[in-house]
Amino acid sequence: MQCFSFLRDRKKGKKEQQNPRARSGAASTATTSSSNYGTSRSYDSTGGKRTSKSSASSSSQPSISAMFAEKAAVLRVFELDELRSATNAFSRNLKIGEGGFGTVYKGFIRSVDGKGDRITVAVKTLKRRSMQGHKQWLAEVQFLGVLEHPNLVKLIGYCCEDGDRGIERLLVYEYMPNKSLEHHLFGRISSAIPWNVRLKIALGAAEGLAYLHEGLELQVIYRDFKASNVLLDSDFNPKLSDFGLAREGPEGDRTHVSTTVVGTHGYAAPDYIETGHLTTKSDVWSFGVVLYELLTGRRALDENRPTSEQRLLEWVKQFPIESKRFNMVMDPRLRYQYSLKAAREVAKLANGCLSKLAKERPKMSQVVEVLRQVVQISESGAAPREIQREEN
Ligand SMILES: Nc1ncnc2c1ncn2[C@@H]1O[C@H](COP(=O)(O)OP(=O)(O)OP(=O)(O)O)[C@@H](O)[C@H]1O
Ligand SMILES: [Mg+2]
Repeated sequence: MQCFSFLRDRKKGKKEQQNPRARSGAASTATTSSSNYGTSRSYDSTGGKRTSKSSASSSSQPSISAMFAEKAAVLRVFELDELRSATNAFSRNLKIGEGGFGTVYKGFIRSVDGKGDRITVAVKTLKRRSMQGHKQWLAEVQFLGVLEHPNLVKLIGYCCEDGDRGIERLLVYEYMPNKSLEHHLFGRISSAIPWNVRLKIALGAAEGLAYLHEGLELQVIYRDFKASNVLLDSDFNPKLSDFGLAREGPEGDRTHVSTTVVGTHGYAAPDYIETGHLTTKSDVWSFGVVLYELLTGRRALDENRPTSEQRLLEWVKQFPIESKRFNMVMDPRLRYQYSLKAAREVAKLANGCLSKLAKERPKMSQVVEVLRQVVQISESGAAPREIQREEN
């Protein structure tokens, strides 16, 4: 099929032996530059030129396309008509979101055997009919067709069909009733997510990233970790979505993958922006940014605030972790219902993730460990209010 022609091309040029790959170290190329991030829109610095590996590949780690070729059958292939009727002809009333990739609709599909209730899904349509749009669609299908973890959104299937206006590409996901973390942290909603739920979201998202970085035969770099890509299920379990920018990590003893810089302003690591050298530590930086968003309820970049408060990472520096003023960084919507001790630990962890030198940032498995301890600190000992009184 035309939609997977890339896959065949790539497979031709790639060895497919399944040897465990030597783990790479951290990026050797981190810089001390601060960032040049400006707005909060996604960007692609070269308008979607091909990305390239740092040097010729001689390693034999399994490739995502080879793994996908083995597992592709688990995905359902939908006809366009099926998805049209599932979404009431892409009705405005069923529209649940809009991103750089396209529009997302709530829909209802038949179960595989046609029995039982219809299944609620999210249907994402591809807006950009460009090569870059297609590559992102393909990456999403391939990565989510292969990856499986409780903290990654489940791709149910896809559609790739010739329609009236050329090839139509759609994606069908499990429906996440609580929308995104972005919606809850920054949206105009009356009830804020409580502290313990914020910790649960941080921990789950960290587990999802640790699985991508360290839990597979090949390393996956997510490249677009941000609050809008953390979706929440009915119990507020976090699930990472949007694998359109994901990349396979460096092979063999290589330290990084060289790429065109893509990602989202405010979340991308400064060393990655400056050099284009991508490592798992680029994701760790983005995770640190989201930790601060969880603590403060403020966006990484917010042009609607006074100039001195627009850049979250700059703003929080005024309130050092060990100082009495630290609690001023905390989201006022938490109404002091949190453990200040645990909050300090989260901020320390965030600072580690935001180390200028990529190699000094922790691995995601270490982040998971720390967050588990923070959950314990938060749950055990003094109740949040008592800690609040004690330390203020
Ligand atoms: N599986 C899903 N279940 C429920 N809602 C979803 C699902 N996938 C996406 N959405 C909703 O659609 C919105 C848009 O998602 P999308 O990933 O297209 O864009 P985005 O993440 O907001 O921005 P970007 O294009 O920069 O990633 C999400 O914020 C979320 O509210
Ligand atoms: Mg998204």
